[in-house]
Amino acid sequence: MNSSIPSGVWNAIDYEQLAPRHMDAGRLAYVAGGCGWDTAVAANRAAFAAWAIVPRLLRDVRGGHTRLTLGGLELPHPLLLAPVAHQRLAHPDAEIATACAAQATGTCLVASTLSSCTLEAIAAASGPARWFQLYLQPERAHTQGLLRRAEAAGYCAIVLTLDASIQLASRSALRAGFAMPADCAPANLATYPAPAAAPLAEGDSRIFQGAMRHAPTWDDLHWLLGVARLPVWVKGVLHPDDARALQAAGVAGLIVSNHGGRSLDGAPAALHALPAVRAAVGEGYPVLLDGGVRSGADAFKALALGANAVLIGRLQMYALAVAGALGVAHMLQLLTEELHACMAQAGCALLCDITPDCLAPQTPC
Ligand SMILES: Cc1cc2nc3c(=O)[nH]c(=O)nc-3n(C[C@H](O)[C@H](O)[C@H](O)COP(=O)(O)O)c2cc1C
Repeated sequence: MNSSIPSGVWNAIDYEQLAPRHMDAGRLAYVAGGCGWDTAVAANRAAFAAWAIVPRLLRDVRGGHTRLTLGGLELPHPLLLAPVAHQRLAHPDAEIATACAAQATGTCLVASTLSSCTLEAIAAASGPARWFQLYLQPERAHTQGLLRRAEAAGYCAIVLTLDASIQLASRSALRAGFAMPADCAPANLATYPAPAAAPLAEGDSRIFQGAMRHAPTWDDLHWLLGVARLPVWVKGVLHPDDARALQAAGVAGLIVSNHGGRSLDGAPAALHALPAVRAAVGEGYPVLLDGGVRSGADAFKALALGANAVLIGRLQMYALAVAGALGVAHMLQLLTEELHACMAQAGCALLCDITPDCLAPQTPC
């Protein structure tokens, strides 16, 4: 099933165009949607369109490459696979197929707490460049259980996602009647029973005293940094003050992200938030970005505005749905070549040559 690359895929973004032929309307709406009216999803994409890449002439780029060192890993390119939950929605092989593609292309994969396959099975299929994305669990013993399992399975870093304590449903997914199928349930959490929901007292808010009851606080972060044996990155940073405080707390690096527009409808575009976060933490501290990256040109723009690397979210689900592991590997190869082409035309042989002056504001058409 889905084991060859279909015709009509010339660019990575073509997988997005083809996905509707391979996913039913409900699954597609769940993956493509954000939250509420999907305004933050649109903002992520529009932010990239606000910049142009300025061609430069006569520069010798014959020694060019995109290799980098990130979190102690030697990587061939600055594209990571973002943590994306419930991948069986896209393909029966789910995260195992994605992990095979990551291994084949040398890409760093970030496995989600909410994956359809266990973190151990994903680790067995992936290459050495693998990080584990952690959602803090209501019980600290369960969080510690996940940490110990990730360490034992050879993950190299923990990516703590902090922007999704509460996620409003996407209206487009609701309208499409989407319900999570049983075989997409989070395999990692099967052995950690959810605590019984405590009843709300009269006058309590369903949000403050309800959904946010177990939401992480700074105390939880300090606790985690004390018990984790792997470097801890934080995903979901948009405010420069948070960035500074996380850096000071000892976090290994930051991921500027609005969760692909799936957490707060009306959140700033990740790309717009990036320069202020970079300025807050200074050069030399790792900052990644995700949200809206659909091409090598988008990756180039994020690197120019201060990211060390970018993560690819929905495109991996689309490529997985269209052509399984082969599709994900092909999508990554296309993105890498698109980035090479942008670098060559902008006169950048190395990632460190990609600077803000490679960009110019783009006048809307
Ligand atoms: C279907 C889906 C599931 C996701 N699951 C997770 C998750 O489990 N953990 C997490 O930190 N982010 C999750 N994300 C967010 C991605 O890691 C990433 O921030 C986002 O997809 C980037 O935007 P893009 O899809 O435009 O590339 C998910 C995104 C999608 C689309």
